[in-house]
Amino acid sequence: MKVVSIVGARPQFIKAAPVCRALRQRHDEILVHTGQHYDRAMSGVFFDELGIPAPDVNLGVGSGTHGAQTAEMLVAIEGLLIEIAPDCVLVYGDTNTTLAGGLAAAKLDIPVAHVEAGLRSFDRRMPEEINRVVVDHLSRLLLCPTPTAVENLHREGVTDGVELVGDVMLDTARYHADGPASSEALDAFGVSPRDYFLATVHRAGNSDDPARLAAIVRALTRVGKPVVWPVHPRTAKNLAAFGLESLVREGGDVRMVDPVAYGSTIALLRGAAALLTDSGGMQKEAYFFGVPCITLRDETEWIETVELGWNVLVGADTERIVAAAGDLARPAARPDVYGDGHAAEAIVTALESCFM
Ligand code: UD1
Repeated sequence: MKVVSIVGARPQFIKAAPVCRALRQRHDEILVHTGQHYDRAMSGVFFDELGIPAPDVNLGVGSGTHGAQTAEMLVAIEGLLIEIAPDCVLVYGDTNTTLAGGLAAAKLDIPVAHVEAGLRSFDRRMPEEINRVVVDHLSRLLLCPTPTAVENLHREGVTDGVELVGDVMLDTARYHADGPASSEALDAFGVSPRDYFLATVHRAGNSDDPARLAAIVRALTRVGKPVVWPVHPRTAKNLAAFGLESLVREGGDVRMVDPVAYGSTIALLRGAAALLTDSGGMQKEAYFFGVPCITLRDETEWIETVELGWNVLVGADTERIVAAAGDLARPAARPDVYGDGHAAEAIVTALESCFM
């Protein structure tokens, strides 16, 4: 089987790593990087660290408005797919890269397989929600991480080609973060286990909105412990543009650092008293490692983490964030709702039975 896999943004590298490993044991994979994320700290380090094969093609698309970025990818991917003529195209998650890959393939009548199908926030103001809905409805094989995702698809009338395979991020976490957490990353940031918070903020809804971003920054200065905050490039630009950097110096102990590699992120997460985030993937990673999560959004696609009591949704409300940081009691039980850490093998098996 000849498979074209399309990635472009940081979370997709983490998801693709175990699938590339499993797929290449039996099939030809052509790995395409759109170039959506291009800084070494956002891209190259993940390929090196997670042992992902170098991309066969890098389209070098880079940043732009949603229309321009997606359109440029679409044109480049279409040309490539005509040339390669694969048996199927594999796309991941919910970014503009996912949308461009799915759309280009579907229009050429090349079957699309979507990893992380069926997730919904039910908030159409999120660009990621538009991308998810469109790609799911274009896909021939919908590879769902959770039973909730399967139900979401059924509710939209999508029932053919829906497979529950588990979560590939658990595969990556188990493969690279088995055993005791390393203390090197904590030492590098001068923090001690359980005596700091880890924070990440990059959603457009938070980082492009001066009032929400300011409310989050104010909360980080008031949570009562040091905060290690690897700042996403989009958020860094906006903190400067909105004049919010000075807020950080007004109190508390907020340590803004450049984006960190996968291993260091996981080590920082495992040592933290709690995670404060608007990332989708990190809510689950916190759950995998039994770290309390405080989500800086009003809704989540990973509803199981909330239902099971490990995650609380606090929006961008300073008082609610500070209160949640002071109440970190969590239940003892943490059931395996994200599968068994072998989602990548299940994905390859599903591809074989669908497209061979
Ligand atoms: C994208 C995804 C989001 C995902 C996130 C992970 C979409 C719509 N959003 O958001 O779902 O959770 O990636 O990080 O696809 N930038 C750099 N260097 C880089 C990459 C980006 O400076 O290596 C800057 C760009 O110039 C741009 C901003 O960051 O101003 C946004 O980049 P973009 O890829 O469009 O979206 P993300 O916010 O990263």
